[in-house]
Amino acid sequence: MRLKNKKAIVTGGAGGIGRATSLALAAEGAAVAVVDLNAEAAEAVAEEIRSAGGTAVAIAADVSSEADIERVVATAQAEFGGVDVVFNNAGIIRRTTAVETTVEEWDRVFGVNVRAIFLMCKHVVPIMEAAGGGSIINTGSGWGLKGGGQAISYCASKGAVVNMTRALAIDHGPAGIRVNSVNPGDVNTGMLSDEARQLGQDQASFLAEAADRPLRRMGQPGEVAQAVVWLASDDSSYVTGAALVVDGGGIA
Ligand code: NAI
Repeated sequence: MRLKNKKAIVTGGAGGIGRATSLALAAEGAAVAVVDLNAEAAEAVAEEIRSAGGTAVAIAADVSSEADIERVVATAQAEFGGVDVVFNNAGIIRRTTAVETTVEEWDRVFGVNVRAIFLMCKHVVPIMEAAGGGSIINTGSGWGLKGGGQAISYCASKGAVVNMTRALAIDHGPAGIRVNSVNPGDVNTGMLSDEARQLGQDQASFLAEAADRPLRRMGQPGEVAQAVVWLASDDSSYVTGAALVVDGGGIA
């Protein structure tokens, strides 16, 4: 129970990595606010936690909206009495080059992947400061560190997540707030199916690409979740501004 009495917010909490992390945080004793655009799926995750004896609330929200983020933070505070851990994890991908990407798509990717993290920090940092500290974990990507093909807006947005994380760590470290990014390689979630669909590829061959990694397989959402639990807990008490890579060795 490394997170006993801690209160957590997880965005994209209904998706592959978000659900696994919501369950893992709850298993370590945290109360979890499961935030997602998909209200029904978020409620299902919250119910899964409650039926296992944990504490959870589902909040339907678009994380790119400041009004929604303010409501998320206010609801978590009202339900749990504080916020100690935030996992900024909601994300979307568009598999297009610069030439193919519309301005609207570019802005949407940055709204969900980047502006949402800024907004969450804007509204949650004062609460953490008043409480004497906290841990914020942002989901970057291997492609935010090394780039990737046919995903210009996504790669740019995830690079922004990694560096925004470092800047947040510098600004808020003196208040006891640690800020780190977790950077997955290919993880078996709905996002990969979405990518296969966007590229018009057969999903099986798309998934098989991970087989050339040193660990010879794709990651599972629970493997990212355990890294997030570590960053959320005091086990990582001297770690901030870090870009933790969880990718089976694929992006060295
Ligand atoms: P997913 O598609 O299963 O989950 C994403 C979740 O975010 C969904 O539940 C979706 O409804 C939610 N979401 C999307 N837009 C939202 C918005 N505006 N407001 C609130 N919720 C919203 O995908 P996955 O893989 O679990 O993705 C989680 C994070 O991991 C993303 O940031 C993604 O970029 C990142 N990532 C995933 C990798 C993978 O191979 N699956 C690799 C590297 C990074």
